[in-house]
Amino acid sequence: MRKIDIFDTTLRDGEQSAGINLNTAEKIEIARQLEKFGAAVIEAGFPASSPGDFEAVQRIANLVKNSTVTGLSRAMKSDIDAAWEALRGAEQPHIHVFLATSPIHMEYKLMKTPDQVVDIAVEAVKYAKKFFPLVQWSAEDAFRSDREFLVRIINQVIAAGATTINIPDTVGYATPAEYGALFKFLKENVTGIEKVKLSAHCHDDLGMAVANSIAAIENGADQVEGTINGIGERAGNAALEEIAVALHIRKDFYGLETGINLKEIKRTSQLVSQLTGVVIQPNKAVVGKNAFAHESGIHQDGMLKNPETYEIITPELIGDKAAPLALGKHSGRHAFRDRAITMGFDLEDEKLNKAFSEFKKLADRKKEITEEDLFVLFTDQQIKYKETPVYELTNVQVQYGTANIPTATVTAVLPNGETTSVASTGAGSVEAIFNTLEQLVQGKVHILDYRVTSIGKGRDALGEAVVNLSIDGEVSIGRDVAQDVLEASAKAYLNAINRHLMKIAIKEKRTVS
Ligand code: KIV
Ligand code: ZN
Repeated sequence: MRKIDIFDTTLRDGEQSAGINLNTAEKIEIARQLEKFGAAVIEAGFPASSPGDFEAVQRIANLVKNSTVTGLSRAMKSDIDAAWEALRGAEQPHIHVFLATSPIHMEYKLMKTPDQVVDIAVEAVKYAKKFFPLVQWSAEDAFRSDREFLVRIINQVIAAGATTINIPDTVGYATPAEYGALFKFLKENVTGIEKVKLSAHCHDDLGMAVANSIAAIENGADQVEGTINGIGERAGNAALEEIAVALHIRKDFYGLETGINLKEIKRTSQLVSQLTGVVIQPNKAVVGKNAFAHESGIHQDGMLKNPETYEIITPELIGDKAAPLALGKHSGRHAFRDRAITMGFDLEDEKLNKAFSEFKKLADRKKEITEEDLFVLFTDQQIKYKETPVYELTNVQVQYGTANIPTATVTAVLPNGETTSVASTGAGSVEAIFNTLEQLVQGKVHILDYRVTSIGKGRDALGEAVVNLSIDGEVSIGRDVAQDVLEASAKAYLNAINRHLMKIAIKEKRTVS
């Protein structure tokens, strides 16, 4: 069966979206999960763009073995050198070099003539090829480029050694028929196209990214690029889980394989949502909370008689099973460790002990501990940096009454190890907490966005809070969970502050060493 490679760019194009700011530990966690998900290629970042991106790409390249790891690079030597330093330890070093080819990009952004653009592209691919066995070249804004020019430049970059040619619809302007036709045209007109991998990269500005990717596949694409949950700049990228499930469910029609481990979809989607703070819309195909919910009486009746009346995808297919857990209040450390290992977590003793004590606290307050709860507990420990001293919430108390002024009192351990208590008021309980925390951290804090959602179902479900704030002019996003949403909100606020501190600490460490 023909195989379509899934190229995941959650950590590069996805991370580029507004408000997302992952640290290295979180990127590594996502990369590990993407490897389990079965991505053929993981674009781990843009090494030349920042020391943080460089470090993440390097660590992921050294860690991931079953997916090819790549990094983005502009068509310039210094970027290619940085990419090589970051990726040289990878199993199969792969680079992704891009250069814009549309008239508007060449004239206004690059300020180069088409001839100059061809020369720069060829030179960059030749230079990259000195180091990398696998060189992907992307014609940025390919869909709005002149077709004859595309053929000319692609002919030359293939001759220069490119092994994959990517045809992005950078601004999400294409329709499926047009995008498919472009692939057919390139297949028929580019010399040596059969020797390289042809790739599709779609943005969702008109809501057609997944349909366009599939149209490309129907017209000869060997690889599709996208992100988990479709996150990305503006309206986002093609949602990879949707493409994988569509090709699987309609195998009768497409007859294609992706190599994706469909059972890892739910977990991958949850992890990306949890760490990026980007909430999944409830009705989103495949991974939305309501994707398998049947509300109307007629539908429920049909489902009881035969699930196939209304269900074309089962939750089990994507690993979304509401399995009751044998773990509870009385479970021991041993069973807890076994569960962590079965769920794919490899936690050192100190982190496992911390997760276990959080689990015990939760089990005292919550009737049933779900797999989702455990996933959050384990992930939280896995991504913790031990080295940086941070704020730790000890207690939060709120006095609220419809006729009173809400007052919050917070006790926390400060980065210097001292414990302190602060109190303040606000127009509501959350504002009182945030005002108190602002006093505690002694910085100028602005709340840019704040959201609370539940994890799992039921009245005792955990609450998850996401706080997007700026501290002393720097944006930072924090999230945390607790059984009480006010506690989750306080912890999410401090998580944003702590992430800011970690960023500063990493920067300082780099400058010193
Ligand atoms: O959308 C785009 O054109 C890109 C390129 C860098 C491949 O993301
Ligand atoms: Zn893109």
